[in-house]
Amino acid sequence: MVLADVHGRPLRNLRLSVTDKCNLRCAYCMPEENYVWLPKGDILSFDEIAQIVDAFVAAGVDKVRLTGGEPLLRRDLPYLIAHLAAKPGIRDLALTTNGVLLAELAKALRAAGLRRLTVSLDTLRADRFVSIARRNDLHHVLSGIDAAQAAGFQNTKLDTVVMRGVNDDEIFDLLDYARDVRAELRFIEYMDVGGATRWTRDKVVSRAELLQRIATRHGPITAIPALDADAKSAPAERFALSDGTVFGIVASTTAPFCGACDRSRLTADGSWYLCLYAKLGIDLKTPLRVGESTDQLRARIERVWTARTDRGAEQRLALHDERGALLGDEDLRRDPRLEMHTRGG
Ligand code: GTP
Ligand code: 5AD
Ligand code: SF4
Repeated sequence: MVLADVHGRPLRNLRLSVTDKCNLRCAYCMPEENYVWLPKGDILSFDEIAQIVDAFVAAGVDKVRLTGGEPLLRRDLPYLIAHLAAKPGIRDLALTTNGVLLAELAKALRAAGLRRLTVSLDTLRADRFVSIARRNDLHHVLSGIDAAQAAGFQNTKLDTVVMRGVNDDEIFDLLDYARDVRAELRFIEYMDVGGATRWTRDKVVSRAELLQRIATRHGPITAIPALDADAKSAPAERFALSDGTVFGIVASTTAPFCGACDRSRLTADGSWYLCLYAKLGIDLKTPLRVGESTDQLRARIERVWTARTDRGAEQRLALHDERGALLGDEDLRRDPRLEMHTRGG
C-alpha cells in the first residue's frame, strides 16, 4: 500500500544533503558574509546515511537525489553513490551540483553508478559569474559539463535561477548553450526561501513573463503534457520550441506545485524536513544513534508522513503584496538548518 500524507501525497522522493559546505556563494542562496556551519560530529557517516535511506525506501521512497551545499565536496562521495546505486529499491539516483568539481569527478561518479545529473548554471559570462557566485569558476563549471557528457551522462539538466536585472538578459544565450551541449535547460523562479535574505518580488521573473519573452523571440511554444507519475510530481513544466529545443520552467514562486509534492529533505546532520519552507525538522539522527533498527526508523517516518499537511509555497503565494524574504540573518544564525544550502536546493 502506498503511504500517503493528509492531502493524499505519496512519499517517493528524498533529497539527501551530504554536506552543508559550499565552494560558491550564490547571491540567491548564500548572500551573507558569514555562516554558521553544522558541527562536524553531527554529520552522518556513510553507514548512517545508508541505514536511514533503507528506512525511507521501506516507507516508499524510490527516487533519491544527492544535494548539498555542494555534494562533490563530501570526501569519497563515489563510495556512497556505489552503495546507494546497488540498492534495488532506488529506481532513480540523481545528483545536483554547482559543477565546479565536476571535471575532476564526472568519470568516478559515472563509474560508481550515478545516472543523472543536474548542474546549476546561472550565467555564461565569467565576470557575471564572479558577481553572482563570488568565485571565479565559470571555466571549471563549463568544463565540468563537457566532462559529464564525455563520461556518458545523458539527459543532463541545467538549472538557471532567473533574477531581474542580474541574468535575465541571458535567457536566449542559455537556451542556445544548452541545446549545443545537449542538455535540458530549466529556468527557476527566484524563491523566497531560507537563505535568500535579499529576496524581493520585483526580482522574480515569472513563468508567464519568461514564456512571453521566449515566444517573442522564438515563436510559438508548445507545452509538453505531463504523462507519467514522475512528470506529474516534477517541479518543472516542460515546453518545446518549434526547432525542437525542449526547456523547463520551475514556477515555485508564482505557481507552486505543493498539491503534487512527493518530496522531502534530509540535512547532512539527519534532520528531516517535510517542506522547503518548513521551520522545523524531525530529528532522525538521535534515534539512529541510540540504536533504533531500520524497521523502527521506518515506522517513525511513516507516522510523521501520514500526518504531513505542509503546503509552504502556496502559503507564501497567499501573502500577495506582503511577501518578502522568509527569514533574516539572525534567524539563520540561530538555526543553520533553515538555510537552502543546508537543506539542499
Ligand atoms: P528531477 O525532476 O528528478 O530531475 O529533479 P528536480 O527537478 O527535483 O531537481 P532539482 O534538484 O534540479 O530541483 C529543481 C529546483 O526546483 C530546485 O533547485 C528548487 O529550486 C526547486 N525545488 C526543488 N524541490 C522543491 C520543493 O520541495 N519545493 C519547491 N517549492 N521548490 C523545489
Ligand atoms: N531561488 C530559487 N532556487 C534556489 N536555489 C537555491 N536558492 C534558491 C532560490 N532562492 C536552487 C537553485 C540552485 C540549487 C542548488 O538550489 O536551483 O541551482
Ligand atoms: Fe550556490 Fe548551490 Fe552553493 Fe547555494 S549551495 S551557494 S546555490 S552552489
